[in-house]
Order: sequence, then C-alpha cells, then structure tokens
Amino acid sequence: MRTAAIALAIVAVLALIPVLINLQTTSSQANQEPGTVAGGLPQAGDQGTAPQGSAPQDGSAPQQGGAAQEGGAAQDGSAQGATSTSAGTVTEVDKKFLVAVRQAGLWEIPAGRLAQTNASSEAVKRAGHHLIDGHSKLDQLVREDAKILGVQIPDEATEEQQGWVAQMKAAKGAEFDKIFANLLRASHGKIFATIGEVRGSTQNDLIRRHARQANQTVMDHLEVLEDTGLVDAKTFAEVEEAVTK
Ligand SMILES: [Fe+2]
Repeated sequence: MRTAAIALAIVAVLALIPVLINLQTTSSQANQEPGTVAGGLPQAGDQGTAPQGSAPQDGSAPQQGGAAQEGGAAQDGSAQGATSTSAGTVTEVDKKFLVAVRQAGLWEIPAGRLAQTNASSEAVKRAGHHLIDGHSKLDQLVREDAKILGVQIPDEATEEQQGWVAQMKAAKGAEFDKIFANLLRASHGKIFATIGEVRGSTQNDLIRRHARQANQTVMDHLEVLEDTGLVDAKTFAEVEEAVTK
C-alpha cells in the first residue's frame, strides 16, 4: 500500500510539470516589449530605438555626424553618430581611428622609402624598412575593415603629412636623419595615445582587432625610431603636451 501511494504521488508531480512549463513561457513572453525579440534587437518600424548598450552614454560622440551617409553597408542605429552594422556598432571615434590609420600609411610608406635613398644612418634606414613593412600590412587591413564597416577612408595623406614628406625629400644625410626620427617619433607618440582610447571604448570586434594590430605596429615603430638615438627632448615634450591637453 505504501509503495502504491508513493508511486501515485510521483505520477501526480510528473503530470504537473508541463503545466508549470507552460505558465513560465507565457510569463516570459508577456515581459517582452512590443517590436522586440529576445536579445533586444529592434524590429522594422522600431526606429529610434538603439540596440541596448550600442550607443555611447557619456555624450563623447558627436551629436551630428551624418554617419548613416558615410557607407553603403551601414545603417543608422543611433542618434549619437554611431552606426549599427552587421559587424557591430561603429562610433565616430572608431571611424576617425580607421581614417587616421589609413593616413598614417599614406605618408609613412613614402617616408620609409625616402629613408633608403636620403638617410646616412643605418638605424634610420632600418626604421624606414619597419615603416614600409608595418604600414603595408596595416593598410591592407584598414581597407578591408573600412569596407566591411562602411567607413569612407581617404586616398591622400593630410596636408600636414604631405608637408612632412616634402621636408624629408628636400633633406639628405644627417639632416634627413634628424628630421625623419623626430617627425615620425612625434606622430607615433600621439597616435599611440589614440589607440588606447579606441581600444578602451570601442564596442566593435573588428575595431578591437584593428586596434590590437595598430598597437603592435606603432609600438614597433616607436622602438625603431628611438633606436636611432636621434629623437630630441623637444619631441617628447611636444607629444606630452598633445596627449595631455
Ligand atoms: Fe608607423
């Protein structure tokens, strides 16, 4: 009798399980907001709703940026200049970073080549080789990532960078060595700080990978430039002022 009673109790409990599961499902469906699916992704017609956690909360990104017009692969996903793409959210800071990496290659590769013809120091020539190698690889990556993320990147270095190349073109020997080491060391010191900001704040996996690669390249360039022994205290002070203001 006792065994039969226990068996009956077990059967009763088992019979209740589907009822409890059904109640749980109904409750969780009722908690979802209209127009969303599990995970909080906005649906068509849910304009103005940014994916949770996708937009910067500190107001650091520009309020207006025309981000949605910048690339065909991107769709406007935020009111703060961030763009939601199939590869994740891309902020204005992320976009500026890709542009800066592209522009670095556009003047550093010519600078590296000039070092092979105009430099007298072997350490400067070696640094030039590192610039050519590093930025050839990084440039390939930046073009790929910009295409995926729908970010427009330039085909020309900035006017300032073009001016630096012109300055180096006009110099030879020891004079070239000094100009090369200081211009490039100053520029790398400044972008090194930018990479930290981007890596620290980006929400995008491709930008994280890009920042990692750029960090390694810039670190290598900082070191080979310092190895020339030609970087002035004035150059370090210039970088300090730029990154702390
Ligand atoms: Fe570099």
